[in-house]
Amino acid sequence: MSVIDEVKQRLDIVEVVGEYVPNLTKSGRSFKALCPFHSEKHASFYIFPERQSWHCFGSCAAGGDIFAFVMRKENLDFGEALRLLADKAGVVLQPKPQAEAQDEEEEKLHRVNEAAAHYYHHLLLNSTAAEGARGYLTTRSVSPESIADFQLGLSLDSWDALRLYLADKGYGEEEVLAAGLVVEKEAGGNYDRFRNRLMFPIRSAQGRVIGFGARALDDSLPKYLNSPQTAIFDKSSILYGIDRAKTAIRRQNLVVVVEGYMDVIIAHQHGYDNVVASMGSALTEKHIGAIKRLTKNLTLALDADAAGDEATLRGVEVAARSLDQKVVPVLTWQGLVRYENTLDAEVKVMVMPRGKDPDDIIKENAPLWQQLVAGALPVVDYTFNAVAAKLDLTKAGDKSRAVEQLLPLIAEMRDAVRRYDYLQKLARLAMVDERTLAALLRRPRPSRGGTGAQASRPTLLLSSSRPLEEYCLALLLQHPELRDSSGELSPDHFEHSENRELFAAWRHNPDLPSLRAGLDAALGQHLDTLAAKAIPPASPRKLERDLAGCTLRLREQQLRAKEELLSLEAREVDAAELDRLREEGTDIGNSLRQVFIERTEQRRTASEEQTG
Ligand code: UTP
Ligand code: MN
Repeated sequence: MSVIDEVKQRLDIVEVVGEYVPNLTKSGRSFKALCPFHSEKHASFYIFPERQSWHCFGSCAAGGDIFAFVMRKENLDFGEALRLLADKAGVVLQPKPQAEAQDEEEEKLHRVNEAAAHYYHHLLLNSTAAEGARGYLTTRSVSPESIADFQLGLSLDSWDALRLYLADKGYGEEEVLAAGLVVEKEAGGNYDRFRNRLMFPIRSAQGRVIGFGARALDDSLPKYLNSPQTAIFDKSSILYGIDRAKTAIRRQNLVVVVEGYMDVIIAHQHGYDNVVASMGSALTEKHIGAIKRLTKNLTLALDADAAGDEATLRGVEVAARSLDQKVVPVLTWQGLVRYENTLDAEVKVMVMPRGKDPDDIIKENAPLWQQLVAGALPVVDYTFNAVAAKLDLTKAGDKSRAVEQLLPLIAEMRDAVRRYDYLQKLARLAMVDERTLAALLRRPRPSRGGTGAQASRPTLLLSSSRPLEEYCLALLLQHPELRDSSGELSPDHFEHSENRELFAAWRHNPDLPSLRAGLDAALGQHLDTLAAKAIPPASPRKLERDLAGCTLRLREQQLRAKEELLSLEAREVDAAELDRLREEGTDIGNSLRQVFIERTEQRRTASEEQTG
């Protein structure tokens, strides 16, 4: 992980900005305040915690991430802002350790985690203090074999039992601390992080212990405490149980993703051993990355609450639910369909009966579990049903909402036959003429009336723009011949400061060696990473098209973020202000439509080229 990432991960934009802007008030999913960069009467400065970004859409119209904020506020360049924030975050900026040193570091972390797992497991099996925990596992029907297979354990009700044990085994305080097994006291010294909890060692796909989940044995909160982010523990990419599931996943060519530790253990205990857990957080691109070598077929087990939730349908809820503050690209339904396209994958959804976890179902009624897995619906069908169930389709407004929510999914489909099938299905569902929909797909017209964008607000999908930004930069850095085609891009299109900075610097000076020489160390590393990023070989035409596609999507994301902010503000301003907003809203609507038209054109040219 780069130091830039580490800083972003450890700091929360709301907190940092809050130090400069005292009167933040919560407004929906965001925070707002009077803009610190210009004087104004109405608050038009917004912070978006889920994206870890900010935006002023008053007269300064600036925005960006945490770095951009500090750069502007303190009048610093990127390197200076990085140093300031790294200091705040407790991240040490130093030349990247040699790969070997890094391996050694990771090996240490693995070993100390493994020693702790061994200790906790031993306690659970043998100590008298563990009677309650053993009884608890019996009431949850966890077999002795499962306890051994998953190396379940118990942490004692003590502030230093583990610390002393590990010290006795020769582990240094710093590595125990680095592994997150103890917590630093303000007054100095460390204490055990996990106390009186049932311990679930979490393993990498290779079977090394990388961290722990720790369940309270009573009603105390939080129910689960997890290891903090470390060099080897990244919650956004780990799937609990992957080490024991990978063979079965390959063999069955299917992975079932559930939420909880206990769900995985009970599933495996009953022979359903292709089950892994996302540990309660949203499914991210990194999760997908971790399984795509094993299988392209993915079934998500959703609980009834999540499944019925409108926000889940729109892909936003999942972003908000990730338990750590950090922001990772979270997959939206649309993202999943795109994933299906590019990887030839199949993503399905199964919904648990209300109030039941997979754990309960498997124990109470294993055939029902099998039935649910077998009956999982392709993600698009699932979304169709879920959207339909939410709407009263006799209402015109609801019809157009159905079209707005579902048409983008159809637009993502590459396969023409499939696309046509779903277009028909949507036509039937929304009782709209099929040709009208097809036309909309090709060339969306401004919808009825003068309210423009206001009337047909497309669904905002809060996904990170980062992979897109970085792909786009990698293209430019690796293919100098594309420079002439990059005229439409501007630094503002990049939300992440490191990308924004690199782009601006490259614009100024495309010669990589001298560009590299002039950069701050951390940015230089980022440049190296991007310059080495694997881009599949492609014809010059295809590369041009890729770049044009990226440019459009970056523009689109920027517009959508702005649109979302506008819709938030529109709720609480006076009439004069509202007129101004309306105007701006129409502008965004028009620009978005333009982007959509260009993209559709592009897609058509691309498919004509492919077939012709
Ligand atoms: P659940 O609340 O559904 O717990 O959270 P569970 O796994 O079903 O546990 P039991 O059945 O009550 O024992 C699902 C997952 O979300 C994560 C954990 O990974 C948990 O397994 N989670 C939940 C946390 O990390 N922290 C929490 O406080 C709660
Ligand atoms: Mn449960």
